[in-house]
Amino acid sequence: MKTLPFTKNQIEELIGAHPTPLYIYDEAGIRRQTNRLSNAFSWNKGFKQHFAVKALPNPEILKIVKEEGSGLDCSSLPELILADRVGISGGEIIFSSNDTPAEEFVEAKKRGALINLDDPNHLDFLEKAAGLPDIICFRYTPISLRTGNAIIGDAKERKFGMTREQLFEVYHRAKEKGIRRFGLHSMPVSNELNVEFLLEAARELLSTAKEIQDTLDITFEFINLGGGIGIPYRPEDREFDIEAFGKGVKETAEKTFGSAIPALHMECGRYITGPHGYLISRVRHVKSSYKKYVGLDATMADLMRPGMYGAYHHVTVLGKENAAQNETYDVVGSLCENNDKFAIDRKLPLIEPDDLVVIHDTGAHAHAMGFNYNGKLRSAEFLLRHAGASGEGGQGPEFKMIRRAETVDDYFATLKF
Ligand SMILES: Cc1ncc(COP(=O)(O)O)c(C=O)c1O
Repeated sequence: MKTLPFTKNQIEELIGAHPTPLYIYDEAGIRRQTNRLSNAFSWNKGFKQHFAVKALPNPEILKIVKEEGSGLDCSSLPELILADRVGISGGEIIFSSNDTPAEEFVEAKKRGALINLDDPNHLDFLEKAAGLPDIICFRYTPISLRTGNAIIGDAKERKFGMTREQLFEVYHRAKEKGIRRFGLHSMPVSNELNVEFLLEAARELLSTAKEIQDTLDITFEFINLGGGIGIPYRPEDREFDIEAFGKGVKETAEKTFGSAIPALHMECGRYITGPHGYLISRVRHVKSSYKKYVGLDATMADLMRPGMYGAYHHVTVLGKENAAQNETYDVVGSLCENNDKFAIDRKLPLIEPDDLVVIHDTGAHAHAMGFNYNGKLRSAEFLLRHAGASGEGGQGPEFKMIRRAETVDDYFATLKF
């Protein structure tokens, strides 16, 4: 059974003032997770985690990860502006985009962000658009690794990054152009729970970096291992063993680089906030036709992952946690799309209209992927904070609104009648 950091009474009190659907993020969990990641890499002097803004682009969340020592991974101009607004700048930012417009390179360069290029042609494009930076990074997509999953796809089908041959050529060209400071980046997996798979990817990346260094006589200041660490979406999934991963990377790095190990960077999003987000929704109707359907007031417009790539999200019916799960339901939203389903053939307790459900592990790539199809409005976000610095305070939790719900006026704001 998945546990919750709040009670049914606390949720009822919150939704008395703020209608469902809404998102809640657990601050203590996000802080804990950020620290676990940096502790696993504390052996590496320059280790830096850049939180992937796309996972949860809310300034209050970015401030929390910043307080825990994170930089940011930005992929667009609005994300760079968000970084500015929370006081994160310069090399604390990696700008990792693809199919990038010139003006975004200009803005990234202006801010002194580490620029990660996805295409060898972008070296000239960047030079023309913004001038060359002091330090440059290129994104490698190795094909020797295992086939990707539905989220990231097969390496050979991936639109991101460059081949090994292109990588050697582009670092050579960058050196010829006078650049002397280098980074290397890869994002070879997504939502991966198997430590060995991630270690294989790290070995490939580190050995490629060493080969490039030796062949081209350049030095890498940093190697970015990407994000992609998985989280246990299903109750039977085992948590990713981050400590074993840190230890495994250390062994590989020492073997590959001896004592001259470059700074290692990561840009995890899901691992940091994913398990600490909860989508709260109310049951509107229970319908029986060829199957039994539970209709929620949340839709795929609030959480796209199940409809988009069949992702599993655990569902808890508040107050019925210990009831027998003898019913089988499709849990659906109200969009005019048949893939607007949060769960298919899910075993759940008997559900009635007005029941409250929690959709778990919605702290990353969840609200952020929301959209407005069928005139659905984006939901509010709340930060769950516990009294007392340790998060163990005697008073009840506080729910701080960190994004209000969209209104019909917001929806119409960009239309010209
Ligand atoms: C370049 C890059 N870095 C980091 C991330 C974050 O991935 P995750 O949240 O799975 O760690 C993504 C996700 O799409 C990405 O594209």
